[in-house]
Amino acid sequence: MRILLLGSGGREHALAWKIAQSSVLDELFIAPGNAGTRNHGKNLSFSPTDFESVKKHVLELNINMVVVGPEEPLVMGIYDFFMKDPLLKNIPLIGPSMAGAQLEGSKDFAKKFMHRHSIPTAKYATFSYETLEEGIKYLESMKGPYVLKADGLAAGKGVLIIQDVEEAKIELQSMLSYEKFGAASKKVVIEQFLTGIELSVFVLTDGSSFKLLPEAKDYKRIGEGDTGLNTGGMGAISPVPFADAAFMDKVHNRIIVPTIKGLKQEMIPYKGFIFFGLINVKGDPFVIEYNCRMGDPETEVVIPRLKSDILDLFEGVATNTLSERDIQFYDKSAATVVMVSEGYPEFYEKGKVIYGLKSVVESIVFHSGTASDGPSVLTAGGRVLCVTSYGRNLEAAIEKTYDSVAKISFEGAYFRKDLGFDVL
Ligand code: AMP
Ligand code: GLY
Repeated sequence: MRILLLGSGGREHALAWKIAQSSVLDELFIAPGNAGTRNHGKNLSFSPTDFESVKKHVLELNINMVVVGPEEPLVMGIYDFFMKDPLLKNIPLIGPSMAGAQLEGSKDFAKKFMHRHSIPTAKYATFSYETLEEGIKYLESMKGPYVLKADGLAAGKGVLIIQDVEEAKIELQSMLSYEKFGAASKKVVIEQFLTGIELSVFVLTDGSSFKLLPEAKDYKRIGEGDTGLNTGGMGAISPVPFADAAFMDKVHNRIIVPTIKGLKQEMIPYKGFIFFGLINVKGDPFVIEYNCRMGDPETEVVIPRLKSDILDLFEGVATNTLSERDIQFYDKSAATVVMVSEGYPEFYEKGKVIYGLKSVVESIVFHSGTASDGPSVLTAGGRVLCVTSYGRNLEAAIEKTYDSVAKISFEGAYFRKDLGFDVL
């Protein structure tokens, strides 16, 4: 098969690494990719949201399947673009339709969907500029903390958790009146605050059946002990100790099955990954958010634990035969630590030379924000590298990862040293 993978982060490097191991792969292209993905295929320099460029390359390179990593092209309707084009409509694309991607692209849509299908989630109400006064009354009727969510995509920054009701009212006003998050905050979802511990659960679906992937837990805050600003993710572990069989049964019955059935019932085409951002409230799972793609950095621990050929599973998705495919996992734990640029998630510099990559032999180094300059690898983003290790248990995987991280350096490199602190 000739595969085009869209995206450029650590998630896409992990997917490229796995696709490259497939027995049915002929050639892999990644657009735009990074300095790590070029070791597994050919990088192409166009943007995944430039659908005309995607089309041109798919046709010129005789691509048989397109795998979409990030959410933007999905929310913008790349699946529908393929389906409407006579030259593209028979080329399978792994990723949901624009309607399916609304599970991530609109928090209001996701909440209404969960409500329709009785899927456990926090109580909520949605407000717009026209209903701002009602929104303020709603806040006054609640107990804090107050959870305010911009309806649309806001690059992971659209959620505010506020202790003080007066501050929450001001923020609601600035989201709705001044579009604090641009068009994404034209509507705001106000939610009941749930207390518990979070985890990420993933499935691959062909729209009827699904395969459950290993669960993971990511560490979102910049500082140790889960303090400081939110980031795109500072590390991840898999499996998650508290996700035992009893808990995962509830996730299966109350969340995954109703979601897949709901999509089918509503005739929403969905052939791709669903990411369930869940919270465990006293043993019961609730949905915090849906994403229409794999997580990052969770992919960097989930995909290494997958034993089966990923292209066989993708073919199952494309041909509606996923239920006939076998899926197997390694009975090992995995941990990944993200090395970030100094200053991230706020201002940071790029272009720092990365040293020591070749001295890492015990771990897999997935690149997130890197670029190549001849033989050198340079930092090119806030999140730079994800260093993943296996272990017989989480402790061993985490220890091995920190040993490998110590071998890598670039000016201003920062990483959290407390991975797993909350679950081990
Ligand atoms: P989201 O972008 O929806 O994942 O929200 C970002 C983060 O805000 C989540 O990972 C949670 O830590 C937190 N969060 C979102 N919704 C709630 C909620 N209803 N209760 C408690 N925490 C929440
Ligand atoms: N790690 C969270 C995300 O990918 O959205």
